[in-house]
Amino acid sequence: MGKGKNNEKQNGQEVKRETLTTRQGHPVVDNQNIRTIGDRGPATLENYHYIEKISHFDREEIPERVVHARGSGAFGYFETYGKAGDEPVENYTRAKVFSGAGKRTPVLARFSTVAGAKDSPETARDPRGFAVKMYTEDGNWDLVGNNLKIFFVRDAMKFPDMIHAFKADPVSNVPHPQRMFDFVSRSPESIHMITFLFSPWGIPATYRHMQGSGVNTYKWVNDKGEAVLVKYHWEPKQGIRNLTQEDANAIQAKNVGHATQDLHEAIERGDYPEWEMFVQIMEDGYHPELDFDPLDDTKLWPEDKFPWLPVGRMVLDRNPEDFHTDIEQAAFGTGVLVDGMDFSDDKMLQGRTFSYSDTQRYRVGTNYLQLPVNAPKTAVRTNQQRGQMDHRDPRESGENPHINYEPSMLGGFKENGAERPPHRPTYNAAAMSAPIDRPNNYGQAGETFRSFEEWEREELIKNLSDALAVCDPSIQDAMVEHFTKADENYGRLVKEGIGQKMKELKEMSAEQTIPGRESGQSKFGQGTPEAKEAVEDAVEKGHEADPY
Ligand code: HEM
Repeated sequence: MGKGKNNEKQNGQEVKRETLTTRQGHPVVDNQNIRTIGDRGPATLENYHYIEKISHFDREEIPERVVHARGSGAFGYFETYGKAGDEPVENYTRAKVFSGAGKRTPVLARFSTVAGAKDSPETARDPRGFAVKMYTEDGNWDLVGNNLKIFFVRDAMKFPDMIHAFKADPVSNVPHPQRMFDFVSRSPESIHMITFLFSPWGIPATYRHMQGSGVNTYKWVNDKGEAVLVKYHWEPKQGIRNLTQEDANAIQAKNVGHATQDLHEAIERGDYPEWEMFVQIMEDGYHPELDFDPLDDTKLWPEDKFPWLPVGRMVLDRNPEDFHTDIEQAAFGTGVLVDGMDFSDDKMLQGRTFSYSDTQRYRVGTNYLQLPVNAPKTAVRTNQQRGQMDHRDPRESGENPHINYEPSMLGGFKENGAERPPHRPTYNAAAMSAPIDRPNNYGQAGETFRSFEEWEREELIKNLSDALAVCDPSIQDAMVEHFTKADENYGRLVKEGIGQKMKELKEMSAEQTIPGRESGQSKFGQGTPEAKEAVEDAVEKGHEADPY
């Protein structure tokens, strides 16, 4: 008898492939009923199949990401142009992932929102994560960026506070815009990012229709060990689409996972999303001619001075086979660079670089790099060993597996020897904890405000006014002052907008009932008027029912 399509041989015996088994490989005889004394119970303790099943279920979820918990992703490839603009890319970097026009490197991309939990709405006003892992011939390269090209803060020390402020109240777990603006009003470097975030750019329509950016500044190093500063940008071939708050509300009412669904379905139907990668290049240095610090991640590098040079394209053409193993357990980090790349002195980037692998050892586990989605496609030969769930391939061991240390004269792995012409920045400065000397917190915020289209500016003013109207007056005043410093018109319009919104709210209800107006007192954590209305609606519109 021939081997049936759904059958396989086990120990010489034909087994039906559709037979449900336990993790120990035993066929499951009954998957509907637990083992009991008589058909009404009680249950017995040696109920092995049930206990194994339920205790595995009890452990199904790993900790969600502390930020960027809600996300989705896909696989594909990066194809290099072999050039940076018109020049051979090798003039700037020896990273092989960029050399040789037409060469393809497999990639995984994961897109995400930042503040919300794992299944939170994908219509949130929030930056979108844009993380790409390239499985290059020299090992993995991760570019962990966002859709927006700048960031809220420029010092890693501030990141945990920023995220606490952006998430819900720790007591009630209810969100309130006052928390964000309280933090932001004391952190004026964030005004530029806030200007983008509260405009339609703060709600990309889908993951396919958004840009990406490395945000932080990296270095490219060439064969001579010479380095330049570099910023990365991804431009969607599908075009850019953003949502107004009203559009987003309507979409959210029907679907809280529309962006995940859109990405999955586009790839499923063969409509593969594609992004072109550009770099901006700058000589490393202080650049006194600029009115901002080039390493400050709250700033854009002006395109007229630092043109965008196309270097390649990314196509996503394969959906994950399993969301948990391919996407949830995927671990990206800013420290994951290949030869030909280096860190710039951007202190935010350096602060990030510790954080990612640290959290992944906690979130996914010590051996997270052994998981197929995180492992490089190149050989791994390491003396790092053991830890929970170590399942190294013994073939990774050297010719003498007894030597699990280095250096040794008896065998084991050998270090690679001299780095190719190394890049050796030199420093001569005092150690200190100090802010940068060219913060220029308002210049580009004003330029960005003025560069928006009319409808984008209107939307920005409305969104800011609605959010600030429910904040403490001291926060309102501070924010208006910041916006005024960015552009007089900007400040004036937000001030008027807040006034107008507060008038509407007062007509709706007495001022003291507006959540947030009595900060420090009982109103903390009560949400916005619209949120409160929804709470009341739930009670009032709920249909009464009799107990049964
Ligand atoms: C000091 C500042 C920052 C710190 C400490 C930090 C830390 C973190 C941490 C702990 C995670 C969770 C990672 C995981 O569990 O796998 C994360 C995720 C992420 N961060 Fe940051 N972050 C910072 C700034 C930024 C900036 C400026 C960007 C944008 C350029 C960014 C983009 C992302 C993205 C895209 C993810 C999700 C990666 C994924 O899809 O798994 N972060 N960050």
